[in-house]
Amino acid sequence: MRPAPLSQSLRGRGDNGSPRFAYGADYNPDQWPRQVWEEDVALMRQAGVTIVNLAVFSWARIQPTAGTWDFGWLDEIMDLLHDGGIAVDLATATASPPPWLTTAHPEILPVTDHGETVWPGARQHWRPTSPVFREHALRLTRAMAERYAGHPALAAWHISNELGCHNVYDYSDDAARAFRTWLRRRYTTLDQLNHAWGTAFWSQGYSDWEQILPPRLAASHPNPTQQLDFKRFSSDALRDHLRAERDVLRAVTPDVPITTNFMVMGETKGMNYADWAAEVDFVSNDHYRTPGPQSLDELSFSANLTGNLAGGRPWYLMEHSTSAVNWQPVNLAKRAGELARDSLLHVAHGADAVCFFQWRQSAAGAEKYHSAMLPHAGPDSDLFRSVTCLGDTLRHLAPAAGASREAAPVAVLFDWDSWWASELDSHPTSRLRYRQEALDWYTALLNVGVRADVVPTGTPLDGYRMVIAPVLHVVPATLAKELTRYAENGGHLVATYFSGIVDENDHVWLGGYPGALRDLLGIRIEEFGPLPDGERVTLDGGLTASLWTDRVTATDPATEVLARYTGGEHAGRPAVTRRTSGQGSAAYVSTRLGPTGLTALLPTFLDHAGIRSELPEQARGHVELAVRSRDGDRYLFLVNRTDEPVPLPGLTGDVLPPGPADEDGPLVLAPRAVTVLHQRT
Ligand code: GLA
Ligand code: GLA
Repeated sequence: MRPAPLSQSLRGRGDNGSPRFAYGADYNPDQWPRQVWEEDVALMRQAGVTIVNLAVFSWARIQPTAGTWDFGWLDEIMDLLHDGGIAVDLATATASPPPWLTTAHPEILPVTDHGETVWPGARQHWRPTSPVFREHALRLTRAMAERYAGHPALAAWHISNELGCHNVYDYSDDAARAFRTWLRRRYTTLDQLNHAWGTAFWSQGYSDWEQILPPRLAASHPNPTQQLDFKRFSSDALRDHLRAERDVLRAVTPDVPITTNFMVMGETKGMNYADWAAEVDFVSNDHYRTPGPQSLDELSFSANLTGNLAGGRPWYLMEHSTSAVNWQPVNLAKRAGELARDSLLHVAHGADAVCFFQWRQSAAGAEKYHSAMLPHAGPDSDLFRSVTCLGDTLRHLAPAAGASREAAPVAVLFDWDSWWASELDSHPTSRLRYRQEALDWYTALLNVGVRADVVPTGTPLDGYRMVIAPVLHVVPATLAKELTRYAENGGHLVATYFSGIVDENDHVWLGGYPGALRDLLGIRIEEFGPLPDGERVTLDGGLTASLWTDRVTATDPATEVLARYTGGEHAGRPAVTRRTSGQGSAAYVSTRLGPTGLTALLPTFLDHAGIRSELPEQARGHVELAVRSRDGDRYLFLVNRTDEPVPLPGLTGDVLPPGPADEDGPLVLAPRAVTVLHQRT
């Protein structure tokens, strides 16, 4: 039997079967004396908590030595939670191996590219490819599954924790062996590997598989295709671990849904989640804000991508923070309203669960200054009141739970291969940041009030009026064909600098850049023109740009020049072009315009594609709109991106939850607030 959908799986005791949002946190009762547990459950109920993620780092407590098990405390807390009506997303507890294991088997410890051992003392000190670690982790997984199969609190399984957070790249001998196996599967013959890796260069030709190593510390730049393949392999190795734990769980508890918490956020880039999403019964994500001018946009971008990794279906926000974290250079407290707005922005993009790290703020350990639902100050605190208030809000929003994301008119393509390959060393510039370019386009879309979906490559594109491909660097022949067909059939493609440059082996498409997309875009580039730090160039229309320029020649009569460089080396040459292609078009932006420049340029593309904002004019840029729908019900999530009130004239629907607006007057969105309009179609 396959597990039930997410919204049904996460119901606690006493639910009447109607949809609701799950609400909760990581819960670490084993870090506290027994006497606080009852108070925990009572306060959870007060806050509206419906689910907790339990035993995430409890291996040493559950299995204190190789041969002894202690489930008594966990049985007790499982029962207590269940009696309190709180469901459990139960961890397999394998994330952090205990000292007895690393002492007996130091060969499970990861090794850096410099050959240094990563010692225990923190967490996640294990090699994804270690057969010894795998054996012990699966033994624990099985013990957990057998112990709690049928426990009424058990709502879902939580595999390990943030797989790859600290151990994605391991250069040990185990990794070397597994890498060779992975390469044999990919290339079959050494000749094909030698070709793909371009080993004729620098005398790297392999005559035996055993000669191949991970890209360990080398005298100069290691082979780029070897590096790219090692990234692919490392992501796959962790995915294999996920599968191994999952298969044990499925065998023992086939009807309990399984997840693991992804880290779709910021510069976390080691795991290709587009490849992982199909391995779990529902997608979960952890998200922590990166301070800076695009902090909230980055949250939206990540939530959006997570929702699309989940195929538009609801997903589970496994962790975010109520306020400050402890691991940034300066850890900022959230401002009033941000706890709720951040949470509801995830919900807007499809989250059906809102959870935090963690329930009770630690008094000891490395994370004692990390915020939690119940802070050091205790329940008599603004933070706990905000937490309780959010619990209420989620109850009011319950009708929207279970609804899917409604597709947007624009897609922003997100491609892990391009992320990995475009930022390798020995390139025209080391300053290029793949995700930043994608985020800049997303910010520009928010600024003009147009909804977009951030979608992994491989997503069907035909439903989108416009597809933006920021730094789509790796373009295999099949992808070039797909994009060409998309434009010929009426789609409008916009690609940026350093797109279409290499194939899947990181080999340059010859004959002039951007090789794979040259004909589609109707341009040709003979040489790149990256810019030194701090240097800017000017374009028509007062635009200024940085990072990159190209010496572009339009090669097709159907290619129009939308903007030219007005200064710098390429003054007078095309900077932004668009070629009509069949029923659609293919545009090229040869430089980095940043959020401001892209906000100015974007309407040119949107008008051409016939895309208009769905927001009232006064709200554009100030409010983000995301839509969830189910059958004939549409839920418009309106998120105030600013610290000012924003009027929303002309938008109709029932306000859910009622409150922010004067019943008779026009709807006004309070600073940093979120409201939901329910429309029935
Ligand atoms: C040195 C090396 C060459 C080449 C160039 C690149 O001169 O001898 O093989 O790597 O650097 O600048
Ligand atoms: C990650 C981990 C949690 C905790 C938080 C702190 O998300 O999964 O255990 O360390 O970071 O932000």
